Amino acid sequence: MKILITGSNGLLGQKLVYLLKTKQGIECIATARGENRIKDKKGYVFESIDLTNVNEVVEVINKHKPDCIIHTAAMTNVDECELNPDQCKLNNVRSTNNIVNSCKEFAPHMIYISTDFVFDGTSGPYSEEDQPNPLSIYANSKLEAEKIIENSGLPFSILRTMIVYGITDDIQRSNIILWTKNSLEEGKDIRVINDQFRGPTLAEDLANACYEAAIRKATGLFHVSGREVISIIDIAYKVADFFGLDKKYIHAVSTAELNQPAKRPLKTGFIISKAERELGFNPHSIDEGIAIVNEQINTK
Ligand SMILES: NC(=O)c1ccc[n+]([C@@H]2O[C@H](COP(=O)([O-])OP(=O)(O)OC[C@H]3O[C@@H](n4cnc5c(N)ncnc54)[C@H](OP(=O)(O)O)[C@@H]3O)[C@@H](O)[C@H]2O)c1
Repeated sequence: MKILITGSNGLLGQKLVYLLKTKQGIECIATARGENRIKDKKGYVFESIDLTNVNEVVEVINKHKPDCIIHTAAMTNVDECELNPDQCKLNNVRSTNNIVNSCKEFAPHMIYISTDFVFDGTSGPYSEEDQPNPLSIYANSKLEAEKIIENSGLPFSILRTMIVYGITDDIQRSNIILWTKNSLEEGKDIRVINDQFRGPTLAEDLANACYEAAIRKATGLFHVSGREVISIIDIAYKVADFFGLDKKYIHAVSTAELNQPAKRPLKTGFIISKAERELGFNPHSIDEGIAIVNEQINTK
């Protein structure tokens, strides 16, 4: 089975490449914008594509004709999306269109990664049946891309996830665990939101769910996240506890006080029973996840 990954330089993309290259019978084609930033270059094929360039997309997809495409690439900085809506639309919506239009003839299984931000956060935790109501440019672009996938006529799975954490070879964007750890170690004060609630998701767990969706040819919408729904500040406190760091640098701040450019849903969290049933999804707890990240830091 040939699986093509978009966004292979990203957090999820890197985890997927490392996972797929260990699997018997899977040929992995990693694609990313610019150079390959994964340290280990063996056991998979790498192609550079800017997904906004339709010619590059058509050329690479038609060269490999994958059985499955796991589309992880996106402009993921929510505030940058709010401030640059055209760039957001180009990278998140047009790119998805380019991919879908490039593979009508051989109909691969499309796996698209979406977000809890499609919901407004007034009635979480959410199931796959709940109605989206996106609050930001980013969230709207992800929902629009979901619809492109759903209406593509291709077999598809959409995996919605949230607050993904982990460590990669060359992470361009930090995440709550690494940011908290690094800041506290440096004795830097951080302001952490105390009125937003999420189910943090270990990147390896999400990569496994993508792999299972691919090999099981699972179709439809799946909510894929950690089971525990906790406040962002409680995640930061857990990091401080695990690494024995001083909590005095963590300062609670409300969403209203922080006043970020993009509006965020206050309380999401997912009901993950469909993913447990149909993908065999069994995520780690946050405490286990932090310990796994710690082991990975120590072996880098
Ligand atoms: N991380 C989370 O907390 C979270 C939560 C919910 C949903 N998601 C979704 O999960 C997916 C994976 O997230 P992630 O955490 O792995 O994100 P990430 O680390 O930011 O990686 C996204 C990757 O997409 C690439 N990309 C963006 N535009 C591109 C383009 N035009 N052509 C080719 N590549 C492009 C980026 O390339 P560069 O490295 O060159 O910038 C980046 O490597 C995304 O679709 C995101 O919306 C993530």
